[in-house]
Parts: sequence; C-alpha cells; structure tokens
Amino acid sequence: MISQAEALQLIRVKLSDSRWRHSLGVAMTAQGLARQHGENPDQAYLAGILHDYARDLPESELLALARCHNLIEDEVEVLVPDLLHARVGSWALRRELGIDDEDLLAAVEYHTLGSEKMSKLAKIIFLADMIEPGRRPYPGLENLRRLCSADLDKAMLVGLESTISHCLERGRLLHPLTVRARNAFLLACQSRTPRM
Ligand SMILES: [Fe+2]
Ligand SMILES: [Fe+2]
Repeated sequence: MISQAEALQLIRVKLSDSRWRHSLGVAMTAQGLARQHGENPDQAYLAGILHDYARDLPESELLALARCHNLIEDEVEVLVPDLLHARVGSWALRRELGIDDEDLLAAVEYHTLGSEKMSKLAKIIFLADMIEPGRRPYPGLENLRRLCSADLDKAMLVGLESTISHCLERGRLLHPLTVRARNAFLLACQSRTPRM
C-alpha cells in the first residue's frame, strides 16, 4: 500500500498547484472529520490526498478510458465527461498504484456524484471535498461545516441538495446517482426524526 509521503509526492507532480492545494485541504479536513466520527484518520488523509487522482486528465482521455474499461453508468457522463474523474480515478488507483483498500477506492469513486451506498469514509471524503478551507465561499458553506461535525447523514443531505441546486441554477444536467443518493439520505434522516 502506498504511504502518505509517496502519495503526497505523486499528487504534487500529477495535479496543478491549485488542485494540489485543494487535495491537501481535503486530506486535512477528512482527517479531522475521521477523528470526530470514529474513523481511521490515516485512511481518510490518504483518501483525501488521492481523491482527485484523475482530475487533470483531459475530458477526451477520461471518456476514452471509461469507454474502454466499461466504466460508464449513465449517458450524462458522456455529455459531461468531467464527472468521470471520480470513477476513472478510483479505477486508475487500483490499476496504476495497486491500491486494494476497497473502502478508500469506493470513497474516491463516489466523491463527486454521491451514492446510495456510502460508507462513513465515503461520506467524509464527499463532504471534505465540499468544505475544505480553500473552497470559495458559497451559500450554506458555514452551515454545512457545522453539520459535518454534528451529523454526517444530515450533512450529506444538505451537501447533495446544494450540489443539485447548483446544477439547477446553472441549467446543468442532473446525474441520476446524485438524485438517488439525495433521496436515500432524505429517507434516512426522516426515519430518525420522531414524528409529532
Ligand atoms: Fe473531484
Ligand atoms: Fe476534489
């Protein structure tokens, strides 16, 4: 398994300066959230460093890799190939670096679109990506930061709804996985709320 130091070096040369800083921010945020929520902070740090492994690949290459290795799950990904960087990144981490930590690979895969079947680590990486200190402020960011410490499922619901609103406001396509994930977290949160 790759060490944190090796991963840091690798990502330093693989990504642009701004994405490198973003990856560091995600790693440190994920490490903190893991400590707060009883997860492995080292695994969360490593997943944070590696989560955007394929982020700087050109769209044509993302699409070619995804087509070649049967990684496309929905037509939206063909129309917006940037969305593939998470699933292609997870695939490449296994193939190129020999990473076999399934929880880490799934966390990388789900960090952009979300999923109905997210582990605690996957939630932490998804949310750390949205709230890391270098994120440009957006409506609801401070509330989301607070929720991340208090309740990961509520934070996921708010994070997914914020992602969906962002797409709607800009006239962008919605990915069905994101909608399904939002519905799953809504139901999970509702089932925990006592009815009056
Ligand atoms: Fe990403
Ligand atoms: Fe990211």
